[in-house]
Amino acid sequence: MTDTSLPDSLSITDATLAADGGRPVRTAEWPTYDKGDVFICPADEQAGIDAIKRRLYFRYDYRAVSDTETGRFESALCDYFGVPHALGCTSGTTAIALALLGLALPPRSVVLCPAFTFAATPSAIQLAGHRPVFVECDENLNLDIDDLRGKLTDEVKAVVVVHMRGVASDVDAVRALTDPLDIPVIEDAVPALGARLRGRQLGTIGVAGAFSTQSDKSINTGEGGFLLTADTELFARATVYSGAYEGRMRRHFEPAGLPPIAVNDLDHPIFGWRMDEIRAAMATSMLNRLDERVAAHRRNYTVVAEGLAGVSRIAVRQPVEPGALLGESMMFRVLDVHEGTAARFACALRAEGICARNIGDVDDCNVRAFWNWRFCFPDAAQARRSLPRTAMLLEQTVDIPLSANLTLDDCADLVEAVRKVAAGLGTGR
Ligand SMILES: Cc1ncc(COP(=O)(O)O)c(C=O)c1O
Repeated sequence: MTDTSLPDSLSITDATLAADGGRPVRTAEWPTYDKGDVFICPADEQAGIDAIKRRLYFRYDYRAVSDTETGRFESALCDYFGVPHALGCTSGTTAIALALLGLALPPRSVVLCPAFTFAATPSAIQLAGHRPVFVECDENLNLDIDDLRGKLTDEVKAVVVVHMRGVASDVDAVRALTDPLDIPVIEDAVPALGARLRGRQLGTIGVAGAFSTQSDKSINTGEGGFLLTADTELFARATVYSGAYEGRMRRHFEPAGLPPIAVNDLDHPIFGWRMDEIRAAMATSMLNRLDERVAAHRRNYTVVAEGLAGVSRIAVRQPVEPGALLGESMMFRVLDVHEGTAARFACALRAEGICARNIGDVDDCNVRAFWNWRFCFPDAAQARRSLPRTAMLLEQTVDIPLSANLTLDDCADLVEAVRKVAAGLGTGR
């Protein structure tokens, strides 16, 4: 059994906030991927080195797909997720765009997505030639089903749900509304690789699931991504769009050589979003250890969530069912009516040695705050007025990254720091 008990020393040693000159809870850097704190083992490194030494870096050379590193990665993904088709690509953004392109929607279709997401989601919708329209979030920052219901007009041709910061969006509730209208649902499962909802892997519940293998994700190849789907036609089209030129798409259907549907590769542009052999080799190695990483996230998240239960003045973001999250981040709202309290809370946590951001901080141009997406909303104030609930929630929300590598001592520091700040921070008047 995993030990999830925090060290006995979990008491606030110095109640004066570090922001006010007190002793910080920790002085060591908070572990995050961008400081080199990554979940990589020697076998992953060796897989990359072996691929480099083979000197065949292009996935579509003379070999059959099944003999390539990328083909082996895709096959391993199909086995792991229990899906018939997987396609490696260059990023999570291109994986979402490929899923949409694979749907062959009319140009400039309206595609709904939640207002709380990373800027890459509406970017991918635009990349695929469509128009993002945003849906409000509920108090747990999950897509608001009532607002979705009201926005499902005739113009809407697809919905992209997002498992933002690793927390499952209720794809079943979304599909209960969209299936009768024949509106396909794509899962942006980029931040939730390895998490489940009601027993199913996220990314396998909609018509397609999009993932990233950028360094912050459960499989880290620096950059990269992949798409999962059971829809053969979508898969064949997406494969062409990704850059499978001159009949190479058909290699994915070997040995028969032809997809059982009429997708002609000359009908579509090719965008050069192919995965390369080096990252595919590393990704396969990391997929072998995905369960281990997911277990580490789960332990850390459980320890921190238990430690924060009952802390006054904060409300921890809750998943749509217990455990339906990866645990790569801890998010909570600071329950205070005064403007700027969550920003001060996050600032105080940083002073205590914890990496924390208030998503709606006006002094921090966070691209998870939708009003900062000038490519969608020329006027930030108007954007906030158009999605008032999500705007208010993001203004209250503090976000802390939880690396898979956190130790129980790191988790204890986090809990201590949040308790200390919650107790010591003024009310914002
Ligand atoms: C929700 C979400 N969607 C899409 C992306 C884009 O992934 P990538 O950076 O691989 O393009 C991210 C990146 O973190 C994300 O968080």
